[in-house]
Amino acid sequence: MVKSCRTHWLFFLAAAIRQLGDNRIISAFSLKVGGLRVDKASLRTKDPASAYSFVLSSAMDLMGNDNYYSRVNFLATQVWPSARVAASQIEKHAPMINAQSFCELGCGPGLPSITAAKIGINYVWATDIDEFALSLARAAAEEQGLVVKTRTVDLLSATNLPDCDLYVLSDVFESAAVARGAARICEELLRKEKAVWVFAQSDRVQREVFLRDMKQRLGEDAMEWSPVEIGPVAAAKSLPNFWLADINETEVNYE
Ligand SMILES: C[S@@+](CC[C@H](N)C(=O)[O-])C[C@H]1O[C@@H](n2cnc3c(N)ncnc32)[C@H](O)[C@@H]1O
Ligand SMILES: *[C@@H]1O[C@H](CO)[C@@H](O)[C@H](O)[C@H]1NC(C)=O
Repeated sequence: MVKSCRTHWLFFLAAAIRQLGDNRIISAFSLKVGGLRVDKASLRTKDPASAYSFVLSSAMDLMGNDNYYSRVNFLATQVWPSARVAASQIEKHAPMINAQSFCELGCGPGLPSITAAKIGINYVWATDIDEFALSLARAAAEEQGLVVKTRTVDLLSATNLPDCDLYVLSDVFESAAVARGAARICEELLRKEKAVWVFAQSDRVQREVFLRDMKQRLGEDAMEWSPVEIGPVAAAKSLPNFWLADINETEVNYE
């Protein structure tokens, strides 16, 4: 039983790591966060001035039976293609959106949040359920001299969201339950006239659970994902502040 579980996890890991592409710069120094080895993952790998996150160097460091770190969710320790796209979209469009404050939900290592701080948004919150992810985000922000505040927020029960202008969710639909939780939160935020920008790959099947739930909650059937290239466009005529970015992970530019 344990063995088949382990094999399953390895297959999953191999598939997941393929999606990371040329994500990371292996650092010459041995950086550590919370005792675990990390690398830098820059928004643009060839641009040393671009924002970066810290990502776990080796998934193997989370394995082992009595390991404290076996509680860490590997998915929360990497910058996924969606976060990279979200970060560059924020860099490009945030000045036009004119957000004074920014909050990311399910941030993982928080590249979009770090980028938001870097382009000068004053109040930036990175939130996730995974404590190690929040440590990664804090450590990378601090090293870049940026202020990114972190808070533990569970998408299934969130009642303690920071109050901001713009909310970003990147690749958070890990399960149907999370997708429904995210929909409940997004509805609430939109009713408060906040801007909500959701990024998701088309192969994340649970994103359709999210979309269906949003349609129902807001009584709006026309809602759709838009190609990310066209920037923040309304998901429906009645929802000018709700943006749904469709990501094709094979087309994400790392340079
Ligand atoms: C695939 S990772 C994406 C990480 C990052 N946003 C990115 O795009 O690279 C999914 C993230 O959702 C977070 N997550 C999963 N369930 C959650 C929940 N119930 N509440 C908050 N975050 C959750 C995980 O901890 C993880 O950081
Ligand atoms: C993603 O992009 C690739 C390469 O451009 C293309 O072949 C593929 O059909 C696209 N996938 C989707 C779901 O659009």
